[in-house]
Amino acid sequence: MDSAIPTTQAKTTDSTSTRRDTLTITDNRSGKSYEIPITHDTIRASDLRKVRVDETDFGMMSYDPAFNNTASCISRITYIDGDKGILRYRGYPIEELAEKSTYLETAYLLLHGELPTESQLTEWRHHVTHHTFIHESIKKFLDGFHYDAHPMGMVISTIAALSTFYPDAKHIFDPESRKKQTYRLIGKMPTIAAFSYRHTLGMPYVYPDNELSYPGNFLNMLFRTSETRYRPNPILEKALDVLFILHADHEQNCSANTIRGVGSSHVDPFCASAAATAALYGPLHGGANEEALRMLMEIGSVQKVPEFIKRVKAGETRLMGFGHRIYKNYDPRARIIKRIAYEVFDLMGKNPLLEIALECERIALEDEYFIKRKLYPNVDFYTGLIYQSMGFPMTMFPVLFAIPRMSGWVAQWEEMLLDPEQKIARPRQIYLGHDTRSYTAIDQRS
Ligand code: CMC
Repeated sequence: MDSAIPTTQAKTTDSTSTRRDTLTITDNRSGKSYEIPITHDTIRASDLRKVRVDETDFGMMSYDPAFNNTASCISRITYIDGDKGILRYRGYPIEELAEKSTYLETAYLLLHGELPTESQLTEWRHHVTHHTFIHESIKKFLDGFHYDAHPMGMVISTIAALSTFYPDAKHIFDPESRKKQTYRLIGKMPTIAAFSYRHTLGMPYVYPDNELSYPGNFLNMLFRTSETRYRPNPILEKALDVLFILHADHEQNCSANTIRGVGSSHVDPFCASAAATAALYGPLHGGANEEALRMLMEIGSVQKVPEFIKRVKAGETRLMGFGHRIYKNYDPRARIIKRIAYEVFDLMGKNPLLEIALECERIALEDEYFIKRKLYPNVDFYTGLIYQSMGFPMTMFPVLFAIPRMSGWVAQWEEMLLDPEQKIARPRQIYLGHDTRSYTAIDQRS
């Protein structure tokens, strides 16, 4: 028997029997057996390379389009149990953080692994707050966009442009440089987002107010008009802060995988996080909140919900804001968001689309199609209703997702960089194209 690791590594004992944490694979093409170690319920794909028919064989690979069952990294940041509907940042349940923490404290937790002490939090807040201003030239850069440019496009480009303003960011293995870029990225996200929004309205940009909280200052930069000092409504400020906590990280999703993949080439964090923001923009990811609201508007009335659900079941369209690769239970963030929605509606008046959303959820949760596929509301189903009631246009919804996700992206990026097992991301392929053939001159092609 060929062994992919020394047998000593493959053996563990428990109290009742000798248990071998290994997987034995028999290759029926050759009749050979291989013993492969199991660690954390996982085998290493590279161990499969030992499985070969003969010496010329490249060795076996695993095929997993869209990473349905492949762990790409070891992480200690965020934990999700999709069957039970559990989400934890660094071990802390999302429900407790949403109730007791603030976004800036949660961002510190994600990035540093522990909740900050009083003085650590004061210092962290000071640094992030004092990096909220953006270079005046960035304003000129934003001015170049059309008035109807999607703010997400402006945000993606501006984050990438920061790379040209801070060339020191390329020193990615210098911890002091990484710290500085982290302050810059988290501090400047609300400013870039708010300036993009003001540009679409043709309104003057509002500079950051360092006396306000992180979400309070964001509301100031978005909505201040002629008042000398903007005072954010405390209910909206708190609601936005909780929404930021809920969106801060979500383990190896499409955009986290993007920042890890792009960052693995050792590009600076501005370029890597611009790529992650672009990944988030897609309608199957962070763009789903915008699409969910457009869908509710398209449905138009509670009476038309059954007809729409029929179309979903016929495969003509998707129920946006429903379903998740990992959650096969109610998304714990959606539960908290539903509660916040009512708090915001009490203040701003009920969003007329709420009844349509509730009816979609009611029908879907009782319908065989959704039950069988374990499709539940996700984080994006109710957020759009809240954002709309708070006065945000639909195009800003994905931007509101991107602002807090920056802390998760930076945490994922740094973990990848410091992991000695990680290298430049480079998957394999199964090539099924043509074998070698000779070039045909153009006049001889049919
Ligand atoms: N509406 C109707 N059917 C759906 C939906 C939906 N929203 N989502 C999945 N399905 C069906 C799908 O058609 C498939 O059915 P069948 O087995 O008959 O082919 C089955 O459920 C499995 O779907 P999948 O596309 O293989 O699942 P996935 O894990 O690849 O996709 C998803 C996950 C989130 C992309 C998908 O559920 C979806 O498109 N949802 C709508 C978009 C959305 O709300 N995205 C936000 C995700 S949460 C925020 C974030 O973290 O990005």
